[in-house]
Parts: sequence; structure tokens; C-alpha cells
Amino acid sequence: MKRVFSGMQPTGDLHLGNYIGALKRFIPLQEEAECFFCVVDLHALTVPRDPEELRSKTLELAGLYLAAGLDPERSALFVQSHNPAHSEGAWLLQCITRMGELGRMTQFKDKGKGSDSATAGLFSYPVLMAADILLYQADLVPVGEDQKQHLELTRDLADRFNRIYGEVFKIPEPQIGETGARIMALDNPEKKMSKSADSSLNSIQLLDDPDLILKKFKRAVTDSENRIRYDRENKPGISNLLDIHSVMTGESVDSLVERYRDKGYGHLKIDTAEAVIQELKPLQERFRDVMESGEVQRVLARGAERAREVAGETLSRMQQAMGLVSK
Ligand code: AMP
Ligand code: TRP
Repeated sequence: MKRVFSGMQPTGDLHLGNYIGALKRFIPLQEEAECFFCVVDLHALTVPRDPEELRSKTLELAGLYLAAGLDPERSALFVQSHNPAHSEGAWLLQCITRMGELGRMTQFKDKGKGSDSATAGLFSYPVLMAADILLYQADLVPVGEDQKQHLELTRDLADRFNRIYGEVFKIPEPQIGETGARIMALDNPEKKMSKSADSSLNSIQLLDDPDLILKKFKRAVTDSENRIRYDRENKPGISNLLDIHSVMTGESVDSLVERYRDKGYGHLKIDTAEAVIQELKPLQERFRDVMESGEVQRVLARGAERAREVAGETLSRMQQAMGLVSK
């Protein structure tokens, strides 16, 4: 059986980009693979956080995984810091990672902005991510397009380790969706939808109520051509709406273009909002139930146990291969 690993940071609120690029795609994978889904709280610490907020967002994200359809009977859901193998494995991998490789990571360049005060944690963030994945011998890693470069580094490190110390790691494959791997901001379709945006019109949050979702879509920035066609380069706003609509309803972009050709942007915006509202409604209801049921902590404890079992085995093999004396 194949293994799947993916993670999301418990920072800010989950938005439609996280849902379409990652979370929604995790759910069907449970049918065909053994899945490990992680709330990567250690990654969240790479930029300053309010401790209380980090704690509550960690539980909230676990609740959202469950509300989206993660089945704790089949998949392991856990918090990264509950499995110390991630930090230990990351240290061992840092010792074969080159400064130059990390300096080339675009996410570091964006977030750190070349500043001397960017933290060492932010710099080595991709190595921790590599440890997350490699410790589980994952075959597949479902992520949005922005993680592609981190996955390439993960593969390079696995291959380098195997060459220096002997075969320990499986080389993982990224799994990036065909549609919706990069959902753009509603208020600026030249930029990706992002948790760290200044304006609330940037993103649809998964817990937004229907009125707010409709309002945000109505205000979505488009272009002045007033013709519906799919062209991500010249018509990023309309193409983004078509992508979102297509993923929500399962109707192909081509068929949507055909159907909306003569209808004007207003119709497309309202119908896309409606499709999103319909998709998120059951998730929001389940989220409330899950958070009230108190089941999150129990699920996380069980997930961490399974995670420690699997990752611990790989960590021992790494330690052994690198010449550490066994306990
Ligand atoms: P993060 O919130 O950075 O932990 O991201 C969690 C997951 O959502 C990762 O797999 C990202 O690649 C994905 N993701 C984040 N933003 C977007 C976006 N705008 N479009 C599609 N996927 C995204
Ligand atoms: N870096 C990812 C992001 O920002 C989150 C992440 C951490 C992750 N570890 C991972 C994703 C392992 C996939 C697999 O979105």
C-alpha cells in the first residue's frame, strides 16, 4: 500500500486556496493509501507567533481536517511537535544540506526578504519539511504548486543521503492538482491567495458565512473585456473564478466557458460564490460538531502514537547509518 504524507501550518485561517490545493485532495487519497496528515506547528514558529493563538489554531486546524472528511479510523492525524523524530531527523538532514540550496528557496526569499533578522528556523524550514516527509517513507505528497521547490529539495536530500550512507529513504513524488494548484487572490489575481494578506477581500476563509462569501466574490477583481474565456495570463481574475467553479462543481472549465460565454461576469461571480457556499456548508456544520464533541484531542493522541511508531523506525535507521551509537 502506498504512503501519503502532507502537512499544513496552523497559522491564520485556512482559505479556499489551502482547501482546493491541498485539503480537499487529501480526502480521496484515504481510499487508496495509508495517509499521515500533520499540523506542522514547528513550522509555524519560524516567524513570531502569539503562543495562545498558536495553541488554538493548532486544534482548530485539526478540527478542519476532520470536518473536511479525514477519517481517523483510516488515517493518522497528528501534531508535528508530538513526534520528536521530526526535529531530530531535521537536524541529521541539515548536516547534509548546503547553505546555497536553502538560500535559493523562493519562499525563504519572499518571507525573509534577505534581511539579517530573518530567523535560522525560517532558513532551514525546508529541511524540517523534508524530514516530515522522509521519516514516513512517503510515496506521494499532495501539495499546492508553491511547495514544488521544497519537494525538489526533499528529493535531492533523500537521494544524497542514500548515496552517502546507503539506501534509507524512498524518493517521494509531489502530487500537484491539475486545476486549482494555485488559487489566486480575489482582490489581486496576479498574486496567490495567501494567509498573510493585508486585506480581508484577498481570500475566502473556510469558516466565512454565506453572505460574506457572496460579498467577496461580487467584489472580485476581474478585467474590463467583459468576455468569458480561460486565459490565466491575460485574464487571471476570470480564469481563477473558472478554476474555483470547476473544482467546486466538477464541471470542466471548457464546459463552463461554453455555458457562461454570453452571460457576463456578474453571473459567473454569483454562481461561483453559490458553488463555494454549497461546498463549505456541510464542512462548517461538521466543524462545529467536531469542536464541541471533544474528539480532537483523542484523535491527535492516537495519530501521534502511530506517527512515532513509523517515523521512529526510519530515524533509527538514519542514526545507525550516520554512525551514532545506539542506545
Ligand atoms: P500552508 O498554509 O502554507 O501550510 O499551506 C497548506 C497547503 O495549501 C500547501 O499544500 C500549499 O501548497 C497549499 N496552498 C497554499 N496557498 C495556496 C493557493 N493559493 N492555491 C493553492 N494551494 C495553496
Ligand atoms: N511547507 C508547507 C506549506 O507551507 C507545509 C508543510 C510542512 C508540508 N511539512 C510538510 C507539506 C510536509 C507537505 C509535506 O504549505
